[in-house]
Amino acid sequence: MEERRGTWGSKLKFILAAAGSAIGLGNVWRFPTYTGLHGGAAFVLVYIIAVCIVGIPLLIAELTIGRHTQRNPVGAFKAISPGSKWFIVGYLGIITGVFILSYYSVIAGWVVGYVFVTASGSFKGGDEELIRRIFEVVTSNPYIPILLLFIVIAITTYIISRGVQKGIEGWTKVLMPLLFILLIGLAIRSLTLHGAFKGIQFYLSPDLSKIDSMVIIGAIGQALFSLSLGMGTMLTYGSYLSKKEDIFSSSLWVAVADAGVAFTAGLVIFPALFTIHGLSPEEGPSLIFKVLPVIFSKIPGGLIFGTAFFILLTIAAITSTISLLEVPTAYFVDEKKWKRWKSAILLGFISFLLGIPSALSMGGVKFLSSIPIIKIDFLSLMDIIWGNLSLIIGSLLIAIFVGWKWGVKNAVDEIESTGKKFALKNLWKVLIKFITPLAIIIILLNTVYNYFVK
Ligand code: PFF
Repeated sequence: MEERRGTWGSKLKFILAAAGSAIGLGNVWRFPTYTGLHGGAAFVLVYIIAVCIVGIPLLIAELTIGRHTQRNPVGAFKAISPGSKWFIVGYLGIITGVFILSYYSVIAGWVVGYVFVTASGSFKGGDEELIRRIFEVVTSNPYIPILLLFIVIAITTYIISRGVQKGIEGWTKVLMPLLFILLIGLAIRSLTLHGAFKGIQFYLSPDLSKIDSMVIIGAIGQALFSLSLGMGTMLTYGSYLSKKEDIFSSSLWVAVADAGVAFTAGLVIFPALFTIHGLSPEEGPSLIFKVLPVIFSKIPGGLIFGTAFFILLTIAAITSTISLLEVPTAYFVDEKKWKRWKSAILLGFISFLLGIPSALSMGGVKFLSSIPIIKIDFLSLMDIIWGNLSLIIGSLLIAIFVGWKWGVKNAVDEIESTGKKFALKNLWKVLIKFITPLAIIIILLNTVYNYFVK
């Protein structure tokens, strides 16, 4: 068993792999999209609070369950709490992983498409109308998005079939820092554009009256999504963590890196956004694909930087898609004793099929592009159900499990089994037992009330 699962090469390698899972489209695409939709700086503020009181405590909790049990999510709950129904949380995570992978890979596919469009010089001149039309060509015809989706899932499946450590460790070390440096460079350009001030205000000066339950739900969902929490990804990654490594400091590194990349992505998008005619923050999933090309057209060497940027973003996305596919794969390998490649191919294929409606929801099929009554596209609907609600419910259950079922004492014993003291253990105990679950329950009840009772 031990041999078949393998472990991370070192603490640094683990941090890189976990950061690779965390940093992805969630930071560069989803964070600006949600910030734009939910009122800008007010959302950013709630997001930061959510990272601290929900995100980091849960990251520690998932890694600890994983390292303690050395299992996939279903096996882990069964190992700690045999005979109970807690393993259902593991199944919820596995299903969520497949669904998130399905639409996430659609966006990753657009990014791949943009590598070619940018490299071909199509954005030269920065004609805003042309940039909008290019987005349509890449996303709204019935074939290209499906082909791009296929490419992303095929690469992901290939890497996962070879084993997660072999697949991930090498990639993140050089490329993630490079992506970050590029983002900082782009942020500087965006911040110095004529008319950028309005964007800076929108992004950084919060209007507290905008905070409502949708903003809070969105921000908690974003904190979880961005840190790959609530569906057992970090639990699974923790299961490959050797008993020597320090969970607390690793968690902080991952969380700070993740939030740093998201925040910088916002500094790229919003100042530039307000200088573009006819584009509003509420643009939705297409936002960054309409703003970034304008910035690339305004910097020297934009073609090279733009192409490099989309290549790096593709890689960041793939280090996340592999973590999404790893969760269900680990389940079939551990529990059903399937071969790794067989599990990966089957699950990759299912995700591909599930992704097709999302791929067709930017105009490819009218019904999917604006679903009657709710009036949103299918991809956004999938993101709300799986990327927000399911992760929130999964996280709530994981917090209750660690806080009340397994017990914080057992968890702290596991964390401290390295011999190193867990510095903020009392704070963490209070958070995971009371504050994290309460915050989630209150906001869930509030939403249900607003939607169904009022
Ligand atoms: N955290 C990834 C991102 O921000 O792009 C997405 C993700 C990966 C979400 C793995 C959930 C997950 F389990």
